[in-house]
Amino acid sequence: MEIIIQPDAAEAAAVAARIIADQVRRQPHSVLGLATGATVVPVYEELVRMHRQEGLDFSHCVVYNLDEYLGLDPHHPSSYHSFMRTNLLEAIDLPDGAFHIPDGLTDSPECACSQYEQSIADAGGIDLQILGIGRDGHIGFNEPSSSLASRTRVKTLTRQTIEDNSRFFAPGESVPQHVITMGIGTILESRRCLLLAWGDSKAQALAAAVEGPVTASVPASALQLHPRVQVLADERAAFKLAQSDYYRWVWEHKPAWQRV
Ligand code: GLP
Repeated sequence: MEIIIQPDAAEAAAVAARIIADQVRRQPHSVLGLATGATVVPVYEELVRMHRQEGLDFSHCVVYNLDEYLGLDPHHPSSYHSFMRTNLLEAIDLPDGAFHIPDGLTDSPECACSQYEQSIADAGGIDLQILGIGRDGHIGFNEPSSSLASRTRVKTLTRQTIEDNSRFFAPGESVPQHVITMGIGTILESRRCLLLAWGDSKAQALAAAVEGPVTASVPASALQLHPRVQVLADERAAFKLAQSDYYRWVWEHKPAWQRV
């Protein structure tokens, strides 16, 4: 794992956007695994800026999103489909049909999940997977106790995640309890992963994921088993990392050819 600590969320998001942009420039037909949530908003803003001002071209990319709420229409304002449209897709040149997200309205979830897995495989697998982290250490919607070998499937959210995500729903509206999410096994098959964490509320989960034992109780800790993971954190999310001085030292002494 490479742990990159930046002074604040804006600077960390800019580095994340540069990593994604480099991937897309080097490999225009990249298959990107994308995430939703407050964490990725500044990253997508920067990608949109790069598209508009620097001509960053997504026209050959394919996107697979991590997860979606079960029972939400794609046009529901709080669906992850809507989130992606509003925060990224409407502003870039990803072709229609190149965006994939689990179908929250499916009447056959098992079938929809295995088709999603098949579709990722048919696209050649994910080149770069972007991940946020939940306060309980979840990635995608793989809540604690998720099998480290899990595939795309239906999960039940924890009360804490429901409470955390209620800020994205209208007052009084209930957050769905069930979701479809890529599994941890699915995520681990991506060629590269980029885990993002900003703010004090993520510090505990990030330290457990990066420096704690690999355990289904902290789903993001499974990333320790992946050969190519970069973690981007701001100072506030990084403050519980025991080895943070070393991570900063590594970043400062990165050979020129490895620089982002
Ligand atoms: C959500 C999403 C995750 C996201 C995480 C953190 O529930 N399913 O993909 O990374 O929780 O969300 P936020 O970035 O809003 O803190």
